[in-house]
Amino acid sequence: MNPYQQKKRWKYFLLAFAVVIAFGSLFYTRYLVKNIARSERTRAQVWAMSMRQLFNSDDDDFLQFTTAVRDSLTVPAIVIDEKGDIKYVRGLDTTKAFMKLQAEGSKTKKYDPEYFKSELDYMKKQHAPINMKLKMLGEQWFVYYKDSPLLQQLRLFPYVQLTIIAIFLLMAYTAFSSSRKSEQDQVWVGLAKETAHQLGTPISSLMAWIELMKEKFNAQDDTLIAEMENDVQRLEIVADRFSKIGSKPVLEEHAVYAVVKDFVDYFKVRVSKNIGFEMTGNPHLKAGLNIPLFDWVLENLLKNAVNAIDGKGSIHIEIGGNKVKNQVFIDVTDTGKGIQRSKFDTVFQPGYTTRKRGWGLGLSLTKRMVENYHNGQIFVKDSEVGKGTTFRIVLKNTRNDKQAIS
Ligand SMILES: Nc1ncnc2c1ncn2[C@@H]1O[C@H](COP(=O)(O)OP(=O)(O)OP(=O)(O)O)[C@@H](O)[C@H]1O
Ligand SMILES: [Mg+2]
Repeated sequence: MNPYQQKKRWKYFLLAFAVVIAFGSLFYTRYLVKNIARSERTRAQVWAMSMRQLFNSDDDDFLQFTTAVRDSLTVPAIVIDEKGDIKYVRGLDTTKAFMKLQAEGSKTKKYDPEYFKSELDYMKKQHAPINMKLKMLGEQWFVYYKDSPLLQQLRLFPYVQLTIIAIFLLMAYTAFSSSRKSEQDQVWVGLAKETAHQLGTPISSLMAWIELMKEKFNAQDDTLIAEMENDVQRLEIVADRFSKIGSKPVLEEHAVYAVVKDFVDYFKVRVSKNIGFEMTGNPHLKAGLNIPLFDWVLENLLKNAVNAIDGKGSIHIEIGGNKVKNQVFIDVTDTGKGIQRSKFDTVFQPGYTTRKRGWGLGLSLTKRMVENYHNGQIFVKDSEVGKGTTFRIVLKNTRNDKQAIS
C-alpha cells in the first residue's frame, strides 16, 4: 500500500472513531438526562403530596416533616388553582412577588406578574402538571415545574463538550500538519541540495572527458560524441534544477509565451508523432520566472498530458490573462482520459497515481514549484472523463501597462 492510501485509511479510521465518541457521549448524556428528569418528577410528586398533607392534616410533627420535604425540592415550581391563580411559588427569583399584597408588605419584593406568567408558560411546555386534590378546601390545585438548573446544564453539556473537543482537534491538527509540512520542506530542500552537489563533480569531469576525446580522436563532428554532449548537457540542466530548489531561486521577468514556446519546441520532438501541439495567446504578457524550474513545471504537465492521451491526440497551450487582477494564465489542455471531479485536488497529493510505473510525485512537485517558488497557483480548471483536461497556472503579471492583457 502506498503512503497516500495509508494516509486515507487512517483518516477514515480516525473519523469513524470521532463519530463513535461523539454519539457515545450524546447517548450517555441523554440516558443521564432521562434518569435525572424522572427523579425530578418523583420529587415534584412527593412535594405535591407533602403540600396536600399540609392542608389536610393538623398533626404538628407531621407538619414539620412535610414542611421539610416541601423545602427540600430542588426544581423550580409554581402551584395554581383551578382558576389559574398562582398560589405558591418555589425556586424562582425571590425578589419578585406574584401578588400585590406580598409586595406591599415587603421592602425587597417587587410585584411582577409578567415574570411568573412567562415562567408558568415555560413550565407548561416542559412537563405535564401534577394534580393536587385538597379535600378540606374542596379544590383541585396543579403543580407545574421545570428542569432544575443542573438538568438544564446537563442537556447542553454534550454540545459544549463536542464543540470544545472539535476546536481542540482542529488546533492540534493545524499545528501538527504545519510542523510536518515544514519538516517535509526541509527534507525535500536538503535532498535537492545534496543531489545537485553530488552531481556537480562527475558532470564537470564528463565534460572535460568529452573535450579530451574530441581532441584525441580528432572527432569534432562525430555524431556519437555530439549525442553524448547533449546528454551531459541535459544532466547539467537536471543538476541545475535541483540546485535551484536548494536555494531560494531568483525570479526574472520574462515574456511567458516565448519561454513556454521554447520548452514546447524542445519537448514535442521527443514524443510520439501522433500527438499534435498547438500554442495560442498573447505574446506580450510578462511574469517573474525561474526558467530551469518553470521548464520542470511544464515538463511535468506535458508528460502527464502525453500519458493521459492513449494513442492519437492533441495538446493545446493558451497564454491569457486577467486585466483586473493583473494575472497571467497558462492553460494546458489535452484530449486525454480526463480526471473525475472528485479527484481535482487529490491529483496534487504526493503518492497519488493511476499509472503502473508512476510515483505520483510529478504534480506535487509542480505545485510546490508554482506556489513556493513562483508565488502562483495551479489547479485543474476543467476536466471531463474520456474527453480531456485543462490545468491552469496563474502567475502575477509583472508588466505595469495592463494594456498588454487582452
Ligand atoms: N492531464 C491529465 N489527464 C488525466 N489524468 C491526469 C493528468 N495529469 C495527472 N493526472 C492524474 O494524476 C495522477 C498524478 O499525477 P502525477 O504527475 O503527480 O503522478 P504520475 O504522473 O502518476 O507519476 P510521476 O511521479 O511519474 O509524475 C496521475 O497518475 C493521473 O491519474
Ligand atoms: Mg506525472
